[in-house]
Amino acid sequence: MKAKFISIAEAIGQGRGEVAVRGWVYRERGSNKMKFVVLRDASDIIQIVFSREKFEKQWDEIDKLQVEASLQVTGEIYADKRAPTGFEIKAREIEIVGRSEKFPINKSLNEELLGDRRHLWIRSRKMTSILKIRDSVLEAIREHWRRKGFYEYHSPTLIGMQAEGGATVFKVNYFGKPLFLAQTWQLHAEPGIFGLEKIFTIQPSFRAEKSKTSRHLTEYWHAEMEVAWEDFDYLQDDAEQIVKHVISVVLKKNIKELEILERDVKKLEICVRKKFPRISYDEVLKILKEKKKIHIPWGKDLRTIEEDKLSELYDTPVIVTKYPKAVKAFYMKESPEDAKVVLGFDMIAPEGYGEIVGASQREEDIEKLKENLKAQGEDPKKYEFYFDTRRYGSVPHGGYGMGVERLIAWICGLDTIKDAIAFPRTMTRWKP
Ligand code: 4AD
Repeated sequence: MKAKFISIAEAIGQGRGEVAVRGWVYRERGSNKMKFVVLRDASDIIQIVFSREKFEKQWDEIDKLQVEASLQVTGEIYADKRAPTGFEIKAREIEIVGRSEKFPINKSLNEELLGDRRHLWIRSRKMTSILKIRDSVLEAIREHWRRKGFYEYHSPTLIGMQAEGGATVFKVNYFGKPLFLAQTWQLHAEPGIFGLEKIFTIQPSFRAEKSKTSRHLTEYWHAEMEVAWEDFDYLQDDAEQIVKHVISVVLKKNIKELEILERDVKKLEICVRKKFPRISYDEVLKILKEKKKIHIPWGKDLRTIEEDKLSELYDTPVIVTKYPKAVKAFYMKESPEDAKVVLGFDMIAPEGYGEIVGASQREEDIEKLKENLKAQGEDPKKYEFYFDTRRYGSVPHGGYGMGVERLIAWICGLDTIKDAIAFPRTMTRWKP
C-alpha cells in the first residue's frame, strides 16, 4: 500500500476526507456484513468500519482479525458521536502487516501474570499513558536544571564503596575483586563540582532492598544534583521548584493521559500553587503526637507508616529537615547550631507516596566524616579519594536525589511503583 501515513491523532485533527493510518487492533467485533476494528497507535485510538460488500476478496482475513494484529488502512474519516474517540474511518483499502495469535493479556490476569507478560502489557493504554508521562517528567527535570545553568555529568555505576548504608548494596564480582553497584552518584559527583560547580544526572541507582513494598525498586532512575557555594535553603528551594515544574509540565502536556489513568488533577494543581511546608524533625514528632497519637522517641528515623501518617495532614509535599545525625548518611553536615542533627531533608509526597527527595548540605570536616564512617563499621581508607575533595579548596556544597519512579507513581496516582517503569526490578521480579 502506497500512502502517506499520518498518526491517528492527526487524522482525528483532520476530521474529514481521505486518510491513511496504521497501527494495532485494540478491539474488534463484527457480524456477517460488517467488521468494527478499534485501531491504536502511539497517539490515539479510532474506530474503523469494514463492510463485506467492499472487501469480498479479503473478507475471510478481515473477519479473522485478532487483537494486536498490525494494519495499514486508508479510508474516509468523519465525525461519529457513537465512536470511542468521536470519529470513524470507513475503510477503502487494508493491508494486514502482521497477524496476531490470541493475545495472552486479558482483564482476569493477576499482577504476577501481568508481570510475566510485561513485554506485551506495556502496549496497554494504561502503560502507554504512564510511559508518555514518564517521558514528560524526564524532559522537565532536564529542562529545570539546564535553565539554571547546570551541566549534565555522569558517575560510574561500578564503584568500590557504599554511600547509603552497607545493608542495601549489590556486590559484583569484578575480575575477582568485590565492587558494588552505585546506590547514588554522590561520591563521584562531589569531585565534579570543583570544575563545573553545578551538575546533575538522571541515571539508574541500585539498592538491594529486601522490602516488598509498593515504593521500592532494586534498580531505579535517580535524578540527582550537586552544587558548589550554595546553602541548605537553596537545596530546599530548588527541590520545591523542580517538583512544581515537573507537575506543571505534565499538567500542560498530558491531560489526556491523566484522564485515561483517572487521576484527580486537582490534587496536582494544588501542589503547583501552594508553598510546601518546611518542618523540622523535632516539630514532626510533636505534630505526630498531637494529631495522630503516634509517639516516636527522639533519635528514631521516621518509618514508612509514620511518613504516611504525616502526609495525611498535608495536600502538598512536605519538607522534613534536621534529622538526628545517627539515622542519616555519613556525608551529611552536622548542624552548626546543634551537633545532634544534620542539615539534611527528606521531601515526603502527599497521598502516601513516601519520600521522593533525599538531600543534604555536605560535611566538609574530614575528621567528622571519618568518625561517621567508623560509627557505621566502614573503613575510611576506602574513601581517601573522597576526602581529597575537602583537602584541595573545599567549599560549602550540597545536593539531593529524587526517585524518578516515586515521583511518577505519585503524579500518575499508581497503586505500585512498578508501573512507573517499563521493566521493573524488585526482590521478586527481575524478568522479562
Ligand atoms: O534518600 P536517598 O538514599 O539519598 C541519596 O541517595 C543521596 N545520595 C542523594 C543525593 O544527595 N545525591 O535517595 C534519594 C531518593 C529517595 O528520596 C527516593 O525518592 C529514591 O531516591 N529512592 C528509591 N526509589 C525507588 N526505590 C528505592 N529502593 C529507592 N531508594 C531511594
